[in-house]
Amino acid sequence: MSNYHIKHLEEYFQVYRKSVREPENFWGEVAEEHFLWRKKWDNVLQWDFTKPEIKWFEGAKLNITENCIDRHLRTRGDKTAIIWEPNSPEEEALHITYKELHERVCKFANVLKSKGIEKGDRVCIYLPMIPELAVSVLACARIGAIHSVVFAGFSSTALSTRINDADCKMVITADGSFRGSKTIDLKGIVDEALEDCPSIESVLVAKRIASDISIKEGRDEWLQPLLDAADANCEPEIVDAEDPLFILYTSGSTGKPKGMVHTSGGYMVYTAYTFKNIFQYKEDDVYWCTADIGWITGHSYIVYGPLANGATTVMFEGVPSYPDFGRFWEIVDKHKVNQFYTAPTAIRALAKNNLDFVTKHDLSSLKVLGSVGEPINEEAWHWYNDNVGKSRCPIVDTWWQTETGGIMISPIPYATPTIPTYATLPLPGIQPALMDENAKEIKGNLVDGRLCIKFPWPSIARTIWGNHERYKDTYFSAYENMYFTGDGALRDAVGYYRITGRVDDVVIVSGHNLGTAPIEDAINEHPAVAESAIVGYPHDVKGNALYGFVILKEVGETRDRENLRKEINQQITEHIGPIAKLDKIQFVSGLPKTRSGKIMRRILRKIASNDLSNLGDTSTLLNPDVVDEVIKEKID
Ligand code: PRX
Repeated sequence: MSNYHIKHLEEYFQVYRKSVREPENFWGEVAEEHFLWRKKWDNVLQWDFTKPEIKWFEGAKLNITENCIDRHLRTRGDKTAIIWEPNSPEEEALHITYKELHERVCKFANVLKSKGIEKGDRVCIYLPMIPELAVSVLACARIGAIHSVVFAGFSSTALSTRINDADCKMVITADGSFRGSKTIDLKGIVDEALEDCPSIESVLVAKRIASDISIKEGRDEWLQPLLDAADANCEPEIVDAEDPLFILYTSGSTGKPKGMVHTSGGYMVYTAYTFKNIFQYKEDDVYWCTADIGWITGHSYIVYGPLANGATTVMFEGVPSYPDFGRFWEIVDKHKVNQFYTAPTAIRALAKNNLDFVTKHDLSSLKVLGSVGEPINEEAWHWYNDNVGKSRCPIVDTWWQTETGGIMISPIPYATPTIPTYATLPLPGIQPALMDENAKEIKGNLVDGRLCIKFPWPSIARTIWGNHERYKDTYFSAYENMYFTGDGALRDAVGYYRITGRVDDVVIVSGHNLGTAPIEDAINEHPAVAESAIVGYPHDVKGNALYGFVILKEVGETRDRENLRKEINQQITEHIGPIAKLDKIQFVSGLPKTRSGKIMRRILRKIASNDLSNLGDTSTLLNPDVVDEVIKEKID
């Protein structure tokens, strides 16, 4: 039996049982046999969910880039580490070998050092999907600096909030980015953000679109000349297993985004382990995850997990619809991709288009298909299975979160039989529990409840940057001694899990995790808006879309409604980014509230979803009449 590489269902059960019975031996063996440590740990695990405090491989010393790059140089130096596929198919793809990646990362790391970046400093990375993004992430890790990647679709306000929260010293960005037929002025967004960011000392700018940008003397510099002049060797900074590797922000149901902190040792072990098993990666395979490195999926399964296994990982700059809806399949064909990992929203969007876009490409290289980010509906699952996988590639429906660092519940392809819409079984080391409304664990099968995890796994986020109390409140206070995921789930007759969706005020739109509170805050700043409430409703491509109920102030009452809708969405774009725009905006005279003044979102969710059958008892509301009015004027 191999702990590290599971190939059959029987083996999975054996390994799983061991991981639960003897978690420390299990993870200790995996860590010892498959990674390079400069010093071994004193303890595999120490944990206390009440504090909460979780430490894996305490006392161990390592550098994750040595594991992701250096140790492959002898045997895989000339193997391609990263295939970079540009936005336009007319531009040539880049094949970056492990040797070249080493050189690029070392040079970049030396540039960071020359700009005064040291171990523990925070560096904000705001880049499109160009090689510099992966390289800068690894360069930070090389010198022990903490990277905070901000998805380059976020607005200047969202960017400055994140820079200030982590007190970043540097921003790494580009002059602009290509996205399909559009270009985006990234440097302009950074300049705007930095008006409010006193901690930033320097800005490095990669050249991508060759646009005219403003360079602020003493702060901004073009990256390339610095790289050209840098030394191609940089000894890795040896860090503690529990030193922070990165901060990555995720939306919460309230207030500002949460900077989830991941540490080096456990994160490396778990992402590498799950990558190997979930994609059944073999030495000459080409693996492609279509996510952006700005999200956790990109961190764990474009950069760290694949590279720690010496894999070839594809990085795609563009979008699935450019130059046409066949782009994904053209890339699969061109690079002979073996494992393909994407989001249900992309599948649904592509499924709406002519099948010729798929059938004209040779997809015979594919062996495993993955799905992540939201529940995959049955129709999308079948379309993916029939047309992309030609019914011969298992689909791994992978459930996990920014906070979990790695995939938690997922089939192991060619081992776990799959069922559409089921994430199936927990991976080794993962101990799920379903909880009822009285905070008691629901045992047995054919049950549903709130999904918790009972025992730590190596890549669990250790804290929220600068706010450990919030970490405790959000994840460890709802249920005693459990990590609460915020998701609902059911367990079927054989113990398979199906994720049913968020049970809090987070809505997953096109696979993006959006808290409704920050969107409401953005809208409420509009001078004509008195109050607002945002809810999600089912959408056939995005999974969920956002519906806003808005009460206007007197000043807004006489204004043109369409213009107001545009302005409200503009306001959201400026504060958060276009991903958070509302599909529907209804102006209302009031919002259904409890007697204590709390908005009854449950009722609004039902109205927005056209599910009026069971609104529950509305007579206890402070203002029951408003419900009829809201229903009558609902936008279809
Ligand atoms: O609700 C779950 C949903 O996405 C949430 C986590 O979002 P985020 O932190 O942005 O990470 C997304 C990528 C890992 C979860 O709480 N989710 C993610 N994957 C699935 C899913 N829901 C159902 N099925 C999945 N496979």
